[in-house]
Order: sequence, then structure tokens, then C-alpha cells
Amino acid sequence: MSILHAKGDIGGWALQGQDLGFAYPGAAPTFEHIDIGVRPREIVALLGGSGCGKSTLLRVLAGLQAPSSGTLTFLDAPLTAPSPHSALVFQQASLLPWLNVTANVGFGLDFSRQPKIARIAHDQRVQAAIDAVGLAGSERRYPAALSGGMAQRVALARALARQPALLFADEPFSALDAITRADMQTLLVDVVHRWHSAVLLVTHDIDEAILVADRIVLMGGQPGRIMHEWQVELPRPRLAEAQAIGALRLEILAALHGVRAAA
Ligand SMILES: Nc1ncnc2c1ncn2[C@@H]1O[C@H](COP(=O)(O)OP(=O)(O)OP(=O)(O)O)[C@@H](O)[C@H]1O
Ligand SMILES: [Mg+2]
Repeated sequence: MSILHAKGDIGGWALQGQDLGFAYPGAAPTFEHIDIGVRPREIVALLGGSGCGKSTLLRVLAGLQAPSSGTLTFLDAPLTAPSPHSALVFQQASLLPWLNVTANVGFGLDFSRQPKIARIAHDQRVQAAIDAVGLAGSERRYPAALSGGMAQRVALARALARQPALLFADEPFSALDAITRADMQTLLVDVVHRWHSAVLLVTHDIDEAILVADRIVLMGGQPGRIMHEWQVELPRPRLAEAQAIGALRLEILAALHGVRAAA
């Protein structure tokens, strides 16, 4: 593994934010001078302590909130609103309780402007996403009959059904128990590789970042800045790489403490 400081590299980005700043009305800046990018098919973990502005940055990068300053480009076009080529997963699955698994996964998939194969293509996409997250056989269940882990699988399937070029995920597994979380981390990597999606994963879990990400970006300070970056070049599956994980974990912890001390 190596430490990467790739700020000069501007080639081949799916998403690129340059010199981004954001302030809530009447408040001090949440973050400023942030350069961040995600390459096609790359899994990037945005790691940082509670309250450092990760979720705010994710909302800005997803086009849900306009930045106060800076520029944002997604798939080579300026981003001013959420793109149909991206999808979001949050800590809570936010399923519609009156719809079964299939209908929740398909909800909002807009095929109205597509030709007449639309219905079949829609159903195939939904079923493929359900199969990919391991919920085949549970299609007719309602959210009340799902465990927390199953509900998050539905949320992930709903995102995948959009065939996103980029998946934004804000602490998607932090409400799950440790075993389910580990299963979901493995599943996430597997499905985004198969779907050819890039991921921006917000987490405050160092182990999750190391196990899942191709690159880890550490955010910290007040206002928030990007403090460090690590390229994670461990082979997958990574759980077998205990020694290397431990070493990188210590390095990140030291950087986090450095960030805190400087704040
Ligand atoms: N809607 C809002 N209006 C005003 N301030 C906000 C709003 N949302 C968040 N903040 C503030 O902005 C800062 C960054 O919040 P944000 O939720 O982005 O942090 P975070 O890194 O995601 O934290 P956590 O790890 O706890 O989820 C915090 O000080 C928070 O209180
Ligand atoms: Mg947050």
C-alpha cells in the first residue's frame, strides 16, 4: 500500500469537485477548499470524525445541495441537480411500508420515456438487483417483515436498479450488527464490481474504509478540509490481510489524532 497525494491528477474522473466550499445560512463554513474526485468504478471512502461535514459534502457532491463555492463535474458535465446516473443509500433504508420488496426496488424507476420493451426491461432490472443482493424468494415481503440487514439490501437493490455510474452511500451499514455489517461490506464490493459502479462511501469506521475502499480520503478540521489520502492496494478479499490492515489502521488513527490535535 502507498500513500497517494494525487491532487494534480485531473484525468479520468467520473465525479470531480474542485475548491468546494459550503456554509449553512448564518453559520461558519462547514468546509472549504475541498478537492475530491471519484474515478469510474472506483470505491472511495470518505472518512472523518462525527460532525466534520461528511454528510454535507456528500449531499453537495450528489447535487442535493448547491456548494457555496467551487465547481462540480459529473460525467463530464457541470452538476447542478441530482443526476439520474447516480443513486443514494443512507443509514436508514427508508422503504415505503405499503410496497413489497419488488415494488420498493422498482419505485421511482422512470421508464415512461422508453420504448415499449420498457415494462420487461424494468422488471428484469428490478429482479436482477434483487437477485444480486441475495433477496430472491423475498420479493413479496413487506418492509415490516424484513430485518434491518434485509431492509438495507432492499435499499441497495433499489440503488442498483438505477444502474448508477456512481453510488453515494452515507454510513449505510452503521445501524447494523457487526456480522451483518461485514456481510454487507462484502456484498457492496461484489455488486458494484459487477454493476461497474463507482462508490463514494461516507463512514467513520476505519475498518470499513480499509476493507471496502480502493482509496480512503480523510476529512477533518474546522472548517472541514481533506487532510490525507491513502490508496489501498491490498488484494481482495481483505479479511485475510490482517497484518497489513492493522498497519494501515494505525496509520489512519495517527492521522485522525493529528487532525483532532490541529482542529
Ligand atoms: N441543516 C443544517 N443546518 C445547519 N447546520 C447543519 C445542518 N446539517 C448539519 N449541520 C452542521 O454542519 C456540520 C457538519 O454536519 P454533517 O452532518 O455534515 O457532519 P458529519 O461528518 O456527517 O457527521 P456524522 O459523522 O455525525 O454524521 C455540523 O456542525 C452540523 O451541526
Ligand atoms: Mg453524517
